[in-house]
Amino acid sequence: MDTTIAPPIPLVDLSLQHAEIADEVAAGFERVLTSGAFVLGPDVAEFEREFAAYSGVARCVGVGNGTDAIELALRAAGIGPGDEVIIPANTFVATAGGVMRTGATPVLVDCDRQFLLIDPTQIEQRITERTRAIVPVHLYGQLAPMAEVLDIAARHGLVVVEDAAQSQGAEQDGKRAGAFGQSAATSFYPGKNLGAYGDGGAVVTNAEDVADALLGLRNHGGTVKYQHPELGFNSRLDTLQGVVLRAKLRRLDGWNAQRRAAADLYAELLAELPGVEAPSERPGNAHVWHLYVVRVAERDRVLAALNAAGIGAGIHYPVPVHLQGAYRHLGHVSGDFPVAEQAAGRILSLPIYPGITPDQQQRVVSQLADSLG
Ligand SMILES: Cc1ncc(COP(=O)(O)O)c(C=O)c1O
Repeated sequence: MDTTIAPPIPLVDLSLQHAEIADEVAAGFERVLTSGAFVLGPDVAEFEREFAAYSGVARCVGVGNGTDAIELALRAAGIGPGDEVIIPANTFVATAGGVMRTGATPVLVDCDRQFLLIDPTQIEQRITERTRAIVPVHLYGQLAPMAEVLDIAARHGLVVVEDAAQSQGAEQDGKRAGAFGQSAATSFYPGKNLGAYGDGGAVVTNAEDVADALLGLRNHGGTVKYQHPELGFNSRLDTLQGVVLRAKLRRLDGWNAQRRAAADLYAELLAELPGVEAPSERPGNAHVWHLYVVRVAERDRVLAALNAAGIGAGIHYPVPVHLQGAYRHLGHVSGDFPVAEQAAGRILSLPIYPGITPDQQQRVVSQLADSLG
């Protein structure tokens, strides 16, 4: 009898990425520690240049985290109290939080059944004379339907700010996430495809005036020391995080290719498993598989069984925005966004990260098969 206990498989294993860049990061940290340029040092400016070029846009402004990036991108577009901003109900709560913090009201739209992205056919009915912007979310690693969103925005004179927190490197029709809207907000939370060693975020944009406004907004309302023409915030990307992000950006395409290979293998393995709905890629999209989200019946029981067997599965996200306590004031009830609600009860994220092995994936899927009962 084989008494070996198989090691757990985490939802995300960041140690593999770290091992690859450890020397480069150590040398970069040493450079920053010696220079003392901790805030907005050269590695931030270099990273901003490199990430703008990578995203195919003119400018990138590093900020403290992804939520700030959403808030500040909207503020830079002049959005504030009295305005309404359309967002999907199926997203991480920070999309709504970023909108709320500008003083504007988030207006929710359900997602489509297949991809769980904002459903463009439901956007127009939510537009009022107060609507100023749409924030489509490139959820799980693939772009929202941008042609449809941009068309609606153009017809109604709305600004589009992409929430690109989960989509670094993803493309639609050959164009990278972040290059579609007036601007795009992204997060470098450690588990993201491009993750820092702590919090971080950025706004990318082709609009020079938006980028210039962001330079002040992130730095107490001004770019000249002790001159504060506007109300601002303290939301800057750390120089140490700039070092990490530069090292990771150089490897991002390779790591995304590994995620893609892992997603292809899951698709193959799951094809044999009735009762599991595998995720799919929208036509025209190059998905970067930030998360691999399947759907199953009796999800909570299946999740508990997987976790008990050492498989780090999770849920992204168990409660849609409109049913969160913080958004009670929007006046929604259960049933208002049926697709998002039904998905929330069935979705299950399987481990995926650069470096996950075919053996590990086979174990995940065979444990999933056992857990289905
Ligand atoms: C879709 C989405 N939007 C916004 C955020 C907020 O980013 P942060 O955690 O860096 O504030 C995240 C990540 O956490 C996210 O996944």
